Amino acid sequence: MIKVKVHDLKPGMVVGYPLLRDDGVVLLREGVTLTRRLIERIKETGFECIYIRDRRFRDVDLEEAISYDVRRQALLTLNESFSSIMKGRQTSLEPIRRLVDEIIDEVLSTKKSVVSLIQLRQHDDAVFSHSVNVSALSVFLGRFLGLSREQLRVLALGSLMHDLGKIRIPLEILNKPGTLTPSEWETMRGHPLWSVELMTGKVPEDSLSIAIALQHHERLDGSGYPYGLLEPDIHFLARICACSDVYDALTVDRPYRKRFSYAEALEYLMGNVGKLFDLQVVTTMVRHIAPYPVGEVVRLTTGEVGVVVRLNEGLPIRPVVRVIQDREGNTLERPKDIDLMRELTVAITGTESVRYKDYRRYAPQEVGGVGGNDARSS
Ligand SMILES: [Fe+2]
Repeated sequence: MIKVKVHDLKPGMVVGYPLLRDDGVVLLREGVTLTRRLIERIKETGFECIYIRDRRFRDVDLEEAISYDVRRQALLTLNESFSSIMKGRQTSLEPIRRLVDEIIDEVLSTKKSVVSLIQLRQHDDAVFSHSVNVSALSVFLGRFLGLSREQLRVLALGSLMHDLGKIRIPLEILNKPGTLTPSEWETMRGHPLWSVELMTGKVPEDSLSIAIALQHHERLDGSGYPYGLLEPDIHFLARICACSDVYDALTVDRPYRKRFSYAEALEYLMGNVGKLFDLQVVTTMVRHIAPYPVGEVVRLTTGEVGVVVRLNEGLPIRPVVRVIQDREGNTLERPKDIDLMRELTVAITGTESVRYKDYRRYAPQEVGGVGGNDARSS
């Protein structure tokens, strides 16, 4: 499986991972062979990248923070629950509570100590996908920060709900292509309070999940909002949610900045430890969240280009990379694996994109008919 930019897609390529809309609807199933029409439709949806199958990477496991099944269920549940709440039909958060338990069960059952987010981004602000990512990340971090199951439940619920007040923000402000006016910015800054309002009456008044939603934009030095709280007044669970939120939110394009890669988002968090973000939380993030997910195409300091195929425990920033292109850009006949935990003089310089001259050579065998001689080519 390899991540490919949408404008580099070609007919005949086979989808490696399903494409989900923010409301949980499946836009593209795994295993589908792309046609010209499908590629056009993917472009229209605003996705930038998708995963495609490539026989050179058929041994890789995506090692994601949350499985596809739970992610899809989570998006469907959030969409249904919030449509009902907004129409005044639903007063219970029971479906969301069940979802919280599913997320926690999944995170606690995994033997992995390093995971990544592989959520594929649309251009627009996808509130539900972001909420699911933040919840899964927060629970994963919480596990390594020694939280109890009850604390994890509170953390998962607060993280799922933290940004849902954004539903009340008019789309023309949320997705505005230009800089926000002071009054629009004021509306944006109101969303933690609206998230709390949506939770009021549905969770106990003293639930810490309310504090998480309320405080997720507060920063240790008092520069956050809505209240400008200082470090001692910001709850530890809200500090966890704040870091997960920033890590995921920075990877979306904004009118006032280009999107960050996960590695850049992690650097931003590290650079602001003690000032904006909690040291213990960011340290845990560095140890357990991989900024270069499996399937990501990366360039190495050697000039070679490869694909992340395995995450390394303890040092997720140095995964195993399967090199497929030499420094001159020539495709290697025999890809080679470099374990960056062992090859300490080599490092990743950033993400790259790969263009196929002849995908048929690397297509999975089951679609060998597309290229005819696929099975004989490797
Ligand atoms: Fe927020």
